Amino acid sequence: MIKIAPSILAADFADLGNEIKKIDEAGCDYVHIDVMDGSFVPNISFGTPIIKSIRESTDKIFDVHLMIEEPSRYIKEFKDAGADIITVHAEACKHLHSTVSLIKNYGLKAAVALNPATPNSVLEYVIDELDMVLVMSVNPGFGGQKFIDSSLHKISAIKDVICGRGLNCEIEVDGGISLDNVKKVVNAGADVIVAGSAIYKSEDINNTIKAFREVCEK
Ligand code: DX5
Ligand code: ZN
Repeated sequence: MIKIAPSILAADFADLGNEIKKIDEAGCDYVHIDVMDGSFVPNISFGTPIIKSIRESTDKIFDVHLMIEEPSRYIKEFKDAGADIITVHAEACKHLHSTVSLIKNYGLKAAVALNPATPNSVLEYVIDELDMVLVMSVNPGFGGQKFIDSSLHKISAIKDVICGRGLNCEIEVDGGISLDNVKKVVNAGADVIVAGSAIYKSEDINNTIKAFREVCEK
């Protein structure tokens, strides 16, 4: 079954508790939380105090996507704030393998994200340790961008490695996903679908999440 992870980057920040309850009640699987530092990406979103306060609004899995330089400095803070899965960018880590180990040693699930231009080969010696790979299908930093088609080939190539090695590792795809293109993302091998604007900017969040599920399972 495909997992749905709405990105709260597109939510109304003045009403975040309720915005999270909406996706919770609609049956989302993960809450996708985009943390941006204004350095690794050209945008600043929010940090641990916000995550801590929304932790009270839901029991769903917190899927924390760190778009920050040298994330190893903050893993403990994000764990304490309530993260369940932590994703770090391969491009942002000096020592990727040791950052992944740090996340796992805190008892959290670890994922590595790849930007659209980052080759899959950076995963070669770390994928065996991962719970998830995040394939970026837009350049990170902003919601509402256009899906980059070359990510489909990346997804299938990573899926082949995961199946070939018999790994228990999910593929999450993030950026520009809508009801119109989600099926090809799933067909390429995605297990977890992130959607920000397509869910939060829709008329009825509940119906949209149900529609995503139907299209994915068809
Ligand atoms: C982009 C973020 C995404 C973003 C997705 O840097 O990582 O999670 O919120 O938003 P949409 O679905 O609008 O592209
Ligand atoms: Zn994200």
